[in-house]
Amino acid sequence: MKQIYITRKIPDIGIKMLQDKGYSVDFYPKDRVPSQKEIIKALSKKPYDAVISLLTDKIDAKVFDAVPSAKIFANYAIGFDNIDLVEANKRGILVTNTPGDYSECVAEHAIAMMLALATRMVEADQYVRDGKYKGWAPLHFVGTDILDKTFGIIGAGQIGTRAAIIAKQAFRMKIIYTDIARNNKLEQEFGAEYRATPEEVLKEADVVSLHTPLLPTTRHLVDANRLAMMKPSAFLVNTSRGAVIDEVALVTALKNKTIAGAGLDVFEFEPKLSKGLAKLDNVILTPHIASASVTARDEMAVIAAKNVIEFIEGRTPPNLVVLK
Ligand code: GLV
Repeated sequence: MKQIYITRKIPDIGIKMLQDKGYSVDFYPKDRVPSQKEIIKALSKKPYDAVISLLTDKIDAKVFDAVPSAKIFANYAIGFDNIDLVEANKRGILVTNTPGDYSECVAEHAIAMMLALATRMVEADQYVRDGKYKGWAPLHFVGTDILDKTFGIIGAGQIGTRAAIIAKQAFRMKIIYTDIARNNKLEQEFGAEYRATPEEVLKEADVVSLHTPLLPTTRHLVDANRLAMMKPSAFLVNTSRGAVIDEVALVTALKNKTIAGAGLDVFEFEPKLSKGLAKLDNVILTPHIASASVTARDEMAVIAAKNVIEFIEGRTPPNLVVLK
């Protein structure tokens, strides 16, 4: 019987797919992020054939050593920066991720953050809850218009593209983007304009939304220098990975109001926040929930299970992460 380990409970639909194949499925029983030590201990117990890991798990040589029988690590995430791909590659271990249509949900979260920043909705909600609302006033919580402004995306993959299309279709925004490859669909069907560098997007956009994977080349892509290029009226939204932004530099920029605001679903030192971040009222913080719709989380479970099944049945898993 094939044995699968999942580092934390995922939606039943994925577990059932594996059980329906006759596999035995174990998972970490607690409702919290397991430490690497706990993962290693659990994996050392049986000769597992496959592991479904989470974006919170640091998967490196120590983990691979604990379970030499597992030749696939199917990450339950689009991102894969938690896995040492070089080490996996050396050992012939396959790594997969879970891209899918559900990424619409992440794009919607980015747009929701843009709107919440523009309307100052989170600040205003707190004001009402605090009992400070004593009557309507012409100059209270005056926000920012979004219509016809410029939406800049850094990373025009599936999620960035969807965010750009919503911005265009719902708010008539001009779309500018940068990526390592041109996105013909975005240019031809939605009039998006390509910019060769992130700097150009940062200088020109009223809202910048980040949609790159975290790679050595994108770590601190938005650093102090690049933050300084943004308009003082601009918003920065991050639903990708925290470390794409130098978070300490961002706190300074927000504090000094050299940019107008930021919406962050991800953090550089997740789940910890950089000093001062939570004290600022021009930032909106959500706990890495951009893909947290029932449909999305179910689809991720199905994709992760499918990758494991395809591998075990001797076919190439559909979502292999390939070292570039
Ligand atoms: C979530 O952050 C994911 O990578 O799927």
